[in-house]
Amino acid sequence: MMVKNVASIIVKKFLVRGYNVNPKAVEMLQMVENLDEVVDEICRNAAGRFIITENDVEAALKSLNNKKIVIPNLEKKKEIEEIKILKDVTGNSLTEGKLEDFQLYFNSRYEKISRILRSRVSSVPIASLGRFKGENVTVVGMVNSIKETPRGYYIELEDPTGFINCIASGKLAEIAQTLLGDEVIAVSGTLKDRNIIADRIIFPDVPVNGNRKIVKDFFIVFISDTHFGSKEFLEDDWNKFVSWLNCETKGSEIAEMVKYVIVAGDIVDGVGIYPGQENDLKIVNIYEQYEVAAKHFDEIRKDIKIIMSPGNHDAVRQAEPQPALPKEIRKLFSNNVVHVGNPCYISLDGVKVLIYHGRSLDDVVSKIPKLNYESPHFAMEELLKRRHLSPMYGGRSPIAPEKEDYLVIEDIPDVIHCGHVHTYGAGFYRGVLLVNSSTWQNQTEFQRKMNLNPMPCNVAVYKPGGDLYRIKFYGGSNEICGS
Ligand SMILES: [Fe+2]
Repeated sequence: MMVKNVASIIVKKFLVRGYNVNPKAVEMLQMVENLDEVVDEICRNAAGRFIITENDVEAALKSLNNKKIVIPNLEKKKEIEEIKILKDVTGNSLTEGKLEDFQLYFNSRYEKISRILRSRVSSVPIASLGRFKGENVTVVGMVNSIKETPRGYYIELEDPTGFINCIASGKLAEIAQTLLGDEVIAVSGTLKDRNIIADRIIFPDVPVNGNRKIVKDFFIVFISDTHFGSKEFLEDDWNKFVSWLNCETKGSEIAEMVKYVIVAGDIVDGVGIYPGQENDLKIVNIYEQYEVAAKHFDEIRKDIKIIMSPGNHDAVRQAEPQPALPKEIRKLFSNNVVHVGNPCYISLDGVKVLIYHGRSLDDVVSKIPKLNYESPHFAMEELLKRRHLSPMYGGRSPIAPEKEDYLVIEDIPDVIHCGHVHTYGAGFYRGVLLVNSSTWQNQTEFQRKMNLNPMPCNVAVYKPGGDLYRIKFYGGSNEICGS
């Protein structure tokens, strides 16, 4: 749709000057940065002719000899097509934050996740349960509340037709304890006295060994939370990382096969994010923080594509889903940086990657006793199990009530990449690689007071279908470890 619009703008620019333009020329012009300048140059040289061809475009680009112009060629076009944004709120936000938007948002959440569950279990609408007294039933509902009682946990489930209490005791009580609220689950059990005595709690989850195996001959590098602008930004370690990517240090046999770098948010430290942050800042102006960030990313070799998603420290709305960084900031970065929203579901040469900054991990870690910040990929597992990136509403992760819930994990990705918690963890869950790729910021005073212990400068490097490495750049070396 967007490509079509750009094409029609180009055609119009020539029409008003009395020229027609052939499709190949339009295709080339779509990749030109300073379009008006190039169109002027073409028209200047095309007097007396009616149709502009690709030769005219090439001649104009040559005569302008402007370094800023992206010289189009087929190889470049192929590369652009290899990155496909499958789902992203950027440019699609419709919410006004009204009460009815919240209703639509939760309806969308219920619809999407209940569809996954209903494909596996045969369920009964809550309003129709009256016909099944004493029988075994299954309902699919959103968790409204969870109460601990001497009889076990009372889980109140809601579907579009009504409410029902499900009682979970014994071993099921352990599962009930980990429910986050507002997630969509199925409960099976016996209907007794207008309650369901649960014998099974079913999460939407992903099928065991259900995911496809995709094999590629390139590496993807996962980084996050660079926090440019912070006093604690680890510049020396970052420079070593860039040197490695540019094949200037040991391990270059892996580095030269890197095709993509994905950044999962908190590009800069931002301003006013937490009390007293000004004391932790080296650069107090957020625009200047991005200027420095852009300069550092610009040092990465240009055949690597960088996919950049924002986080809660970045200059976009705090509520998720967050759109990509604003245009005036995006333009600071080189052409090999692709800006996307948070979350963003993207395909890189067919490898499906779900990028999510990971703010909800705070909620999940604080709610589920077995989880901790030292192994963040296990917290990510809980999100995948619930098929939702931020299952708990009203916690530390603000949600914008879009009419469609962008946070539901509808299609199963090959990789989920998070950051936010500043610790490193990577592992496979039912065929899906879960990566949390730490930070480039040393422990701040605020984190020290909060007892948060980051693991900076750990990078996950993955060859889809093959090797997964953790490379540590912290403290001067680049140590390549297993996963
Ligand atoms: Fe961060």
